[in-house]
Amino acid sequence: MFGSIKNCHNTKDFRKLAKQRLPGPIFHYIDGAADDEITYKRNTEAYNTCDLVPNVLAGIDNVDMTTTVMGQKLKMPLYCAPTALQRLFHYEGEIAVAKAAEKLGTMFGVSSLGTASIEEISELVTTPKLFQLYVHKDKGLNKDLIERCKNSNFEAMCVTVDTAVGGNRERDLYTGFTIPMKLSFSSFMSFAIHPKWVFDYYTKPKWELSNLKNHIDAGTSVMTSIGDYFTKMLDNSLDWKGVEEINKNWGKQFAIKGIMSVDDAKKAVDVGATAIMLSNHGGRQLDGSRSPFDQLSEIVDAVGDKVDVICEGGIRRGTHVLKALSLGAKACSGGRMYLYALAAGGQKGVEKAMTNLRDEIERDMKLMGISSLDQLSRKNIRFR
Ligand code: LAC
Repeated sequence: MFGSIKNCHNTKDFRKLAKQRLPGPIFHYIDGAADDEITYKRNTEAYNTCDLVPNVLAGIDNVDMTTTVMGQKLKMPLYCAPTALQRLFHYEGEIAVAKAAEKLGTMFGVSSLGTASIEEISELVTTPKLFQLYVHKDKGLNKDLIERCKNSNFEAMCVTVDTAVGGNRERDLYTGFTIPMKLSFSSFMSFAIHPKWVFDYYTKPKWELSNLKNHIDAGTSVMTSIGDYFTKMLDNSLDWKGVEEINKNWGKQFAIKGIMSVDDAKKAVDVGATAIMLSNHGGRQLDGSRSPFDQLSEIVDAVGDKVDVICEGGIRRGTHVLKALSLGAKACSGGRMYLYALAAGGQKGVEKAMTNLRDEIERDMKLMGISSLDQLSRKNIRFR
């Protein structure tokens, strides 16, 4: 029964399949989080602290789940957040995610630490593209990335701000996960029992950090852990003024990713952001920080009329999206929800995962008695 994409009906199923198909260190890089992984778990559990209150006999035949976020009209209120290193999980990497997002009519993000180039992605799809800028110490690199996104018509950019240092990802310490991959005696067996992954890795185009390789060696020719990369390569002195300058230089739709406090949400408005991504980096940075859903109402009340608030992280079900939208989020996004599926089956996997979630949102809207997302409000939600 279990073991094929067709039989993956939810994120848990894809996670199991990803675990079977990936060498241990890679699976744990995706699956793991910081310290005791409390925040990571809470990101999903938070959605279960409240319940939806449906209205019946609403005569709903068809539902319209389109939404406009960061100026982009999406066919569903959920998109693929930018995540790093995708070709390590499946040889199709970012290309698979881009094409799957296009099929679903939604947005997808490309990370500075992506493994397909900005130009390649942009030639491939017309669906809205979001670039995730990691601000590096190397100012020339930052400028170059922004310029390339402009030339390649990326519609939106976000700057990630919760990575002043690397999070304490203990699973990566145990497995010795680095980029490029280090083959140690202890990890050898986990590669040996995944010959398909090894075959793909060595026979497909060379793995690289496509958008960084002309500027820096770390991650492509010099081995580094992700934690060390954040600490050593990123501009830890980045402040609000720096983000404001980047926004001015970019000049299009601009989000700050990793906002959690009301004070910071207000500052994001002051520096001209058009959106904020309420996020704790999937629990991978500060363990013990609050979950986006727990923090959502406060943020929406403070700035929801000025910027798009995006609730990122922990989404595993259509009802999670409806709950976040009921509290005032414009859209939701996530990483692992499509990354397990990418690992499990490339583009087909991502398509199935996103279709599962799309179908859930549609079914749940009908069960809620609403035909469009603007009918959701705090009236239809109760905290226990
Ligand atoms: C992470 C970064 C790269 O591993 O987004 O969390």
